[in-house]
Formats: sequence, structure tokens, C-alpha cells
Amino acid sequence: MSLDVAIIGCGRIGLPLALAFADRGLKVIGVDNDEQRLAAISSGQMPFEEPGAQDALDRATSAGTIEWSSRVTDAAQADAIVITLGTPSFSHIEIDLRQIQSVLDDLLPVLREGQLLVLRSTIAPGTTDFVAGYLRKHRDFVVGENIFVAHVPERIAAGKFFEEIETLPCIVGGVGERSGDAAAKLFETLGAPIVQTTPINAELAKIWANILRYTMFALPNRLMVECEQYDANVFEVIDLINRDYPRGGMASPGMTAGTCLRKDFAFSEERSNGPGMLLAVSRVNESVPLFIVDGLKTRLGSLEGRKVAVLGLAFKADTDDERDSLSHKLIRLLERELADVSVHDPHVATPTASFSEAIIDADAVVVATDHTVLGSPDVLRSIIDGAKGEAIIADPWNSFGQNAVFASLSEIYAAQRA
Ligand SMILES: NC(=O)c1ccc[n+]([C@@H]2O[C@H](COP(=O)([O-])OP(=O)(O)OC[C@H]3O[C@@H](n4cnc5c(N)ncnc54)[C@H](O)[C@@H]3O)[C@@H](O)[C@H]2O)c1
Repeated sequence: MSLDVAIIGCGRIGLPLALAFADRGLKVIGVDNDEQRLAAISSGQMPFEEPGAQDALDRATSAGTIEWSSRVTDAAQADAIVITLGTPSFSHIEIDLRQIQSVLDDLLPVLREGQLLVLRSTIAPGTTDFVAGYLRKHRDFVVGENIFVAHVPERIAAGKFFEEIETLPCIVGGVGERSGDAAAKLFETLGAPIVQTTPINAELAKIWANILRYTMFALPNRLMVECEQYDANVFEVIDLINRDYPRGGMASPGMTAGTCLRKDFAFSEERSNGPGMLLAVSRVNESVPLFIVDGLKTRLGSLEGRKVAVLGLAFKADTDDERDSLSHKLIRLLERELADVSVHDPHVATPTASFSEAIIDADAVVVATDHTVLGSPDVLRSIIDGAKGEAIIADPWNSFGQNAVFASLSEIYAAQRA
């Protein structure tokens, strides 16, 4: 059968996108080299949480609008090839393009004139032109004339794919005019407004949107540390900054990380003329787990043999995605203090203790992820009942609305009865 679009990399970004195209009636092939993931998807099973995705997979499976393959060369059957591979950062502050380059090498011999190649992954500035140059160098293609290359960055937040795919303006940065038009025609089918620009503008817009968020969260995180230094209350200070003040807008503190925010700043830093600014932002956010551990030590003394319950392993609320979550760093740091760490997360695939096992007789409870289900008054009540009477709760997100990053259960209990 002739195929409209191939998605290479059926991960958290690629799989929902493949399903969205299939839902619009396009004939789709999804390609991934992870056999286990492919087996799950082919048998109709979503390998991760994404609201609406299981229904879309059921529809595509029964309509037969989508096929799956582990061979990258099969993607060349489609008129358009969309790359949704991982683009991690090396520890050398440099984009790791190995997944993309390996797939390009597989595709080179089978690419045809007239095909469209879209980079949907997040990439460092200049990568779209590099890919166009790679096709020119190895196959003599004239990109923009007899083959088309564009960057169409993914800007949707995990958990909101099917809501945002139809509404968020879709940025299209094509190499030459005709590449942009070809990519716009494909993505128009998803229903969101298309904004055409150059590849470099598209690349910068995507990574700087994430840099903006990473920086915005570093400010309250830095303020949280400074408030501890002066024995001030960060939530009160933030309220004073923002309350009825037209130039406020300070965000709230938290364990800021995740696969995108934690690495995308490096794509700017790799060629930065103002080196270090974004590294400082990263260092502030990366220091939050140590700040929590030090705060517990200040209040409890040595953590050796003390039970610390960590609530939440995912990198942000209400997702099962643990990649680059600071919870893991927090747990490692606690273990280096010889604490007895128990972990509970109701969302992630990693097996964790039940909530009551995690908190029973705990000396400290850390709200590491602000999952909605972990932030209710009932959960706080259960912690008061289950943990030790003088246990410390560390809640940088203010999930329990106690307006204290560190509070002892006896203080909370007393405040509730007042
Ligand atoms: N996850 C997010 O919330 C998010 C949001 C916006 C942008 N992005 C960007 O989107 C891109 C993809 O992110 P993701 O979270 O979906 O990554 P992911 O790791 O979940 O998915 C990548 C997939 O590619 C597959 N793969 C790797 N090498 C392959 C190869 N040679 N051939 C075939 N398949 C191969 C992997 O098995 C995996 O399933 C990244 O550039 C990321 O920065 C992610």
C-alpha cells in the first residue's frame, strides 16, 4: 500500500503524533528499533500514559490505518518522513545527534525525489541546515527543489498531546520556500494554525521556550534557598511579590527537571557567546535535592538509619515519565546520608511501595513530585496518622498548602486544630 507519512521513533512524541495522523485518515507507518516497545504497540497496548492515546491506538488498530516496523528503510515507502528520535545532550554541553545521524545513514540509499523529511525532535541551532547539507553531500539532492527538509518542533506538553495538537500554533521552518509549504501541507491536516519561518528561527523558538521555563523556575528555587538562609518564608515572599502587582509574576519553587528542560539549554550553551548564564540556571535547579537533604539534616540531625519517605518519582505532576527526574537524585543523596529511603509513586511503571508502607513510622516525608493525588488534605491526614509525631514534611511545591517548605507534623497538627 502507498503510505502518506512515516514516523521514525515511536516514543512519547512520535507515537501520539503517528496516532493523530492516522485519526485524520492518513496512511501511517510507525518505525522504532525497540522491539519490546513495538511488540506492545502492535498488540494494541500503549507503552506509557498519555490521555486519549489508548483510544486513538484502538481506533487506528481496528481501522488498519497504521502499520509498524523495526526497519528504518521501510519509512521510505511514505511520501513524508517525520523524525521524532531522542536528542539527548552529551555531558560535553553538546547535542547528541547519534540517533538522528544513524537513521539518516539508513535512509540515504532509499530516499526518493519529491519526499519530505521533517525534524520534529528538539535540535540545536543549525541542525536542520546540517541535515539538508548531509543529503546534498551524500545524495546530490537539491534541498527545497527535489527533496524537502523542514524543522517542525514539538511544543506540546506531556499529558496534553490530543488537546494541544489541534490548537497550538505549529511552527514550520523549511529549507527553501517549497520545503516549508510541503511540511505545512502535512501538518495542516492536524488542524492547528501554521506559522512558517526559517529553520534557524524555528530551532531557536523551540529551545528558548524551554530555556524561558527553566529560567523562570530557577528564580523561585534560588529564592527558596535564600529564604532558608535568612529564616524567611518563600511562599509569603512570593505572595508579596505577586499580590496585585502588575510587574510580578514570580513562579513557585519545585524540583525542576525532566528530559526537555534539563538538556535543551545545552543546545544554546554549546555555541554561546555569553557562556555560563544558562549553566548557572541549571545549577540552581539541580541544587534543589541537596537543599532538601540539607534542610532535613538541619532539623533532624544525622539521617543515618532515619526513615525518609519520598513521594513521587516522576519529573512532574500527573505523568509516568521518570526520565531526568530530580527524585532519583534526591534518593541517591539521601542514601549517601545512610537514610532508609522508601518511595511511593502511583503513576510510574517502576515498582514502588504502597503509600502506607512508604510513610509508616517515617522520620521525614518529602513531596518530590506534585502529583494531584498526593496533594489532598486526606493524604496529609494519613501522613499525620502514620509518620512519627515529630516527623518533618518537606513540601517545596506547597502541595499541602501549608506555606512552609519544611514543617514538623506537630506544627501542622497544631495549626490545624487552632
Ligand atoms: N517528551 C516530551 O515531552 C517532549 C516534548 C517536546 C519535544 N520533545 C523532543 O522530542 C524528541 C523525542 O522525545 P521523546 O520523549 O519522544 O523520546 P523517546 O526516547 O521517548 O523516543 C524516541 C524513540 O526513538 C526510538 N529510536 C531510537 N533510535 C532509533 C533508531 N535508530 N531507529 C528507530 N527508532 C529509534 C527509541 O526506541 C524511542 O522509542 C526529543 O528530541 C525531545 O527532546 C520531547
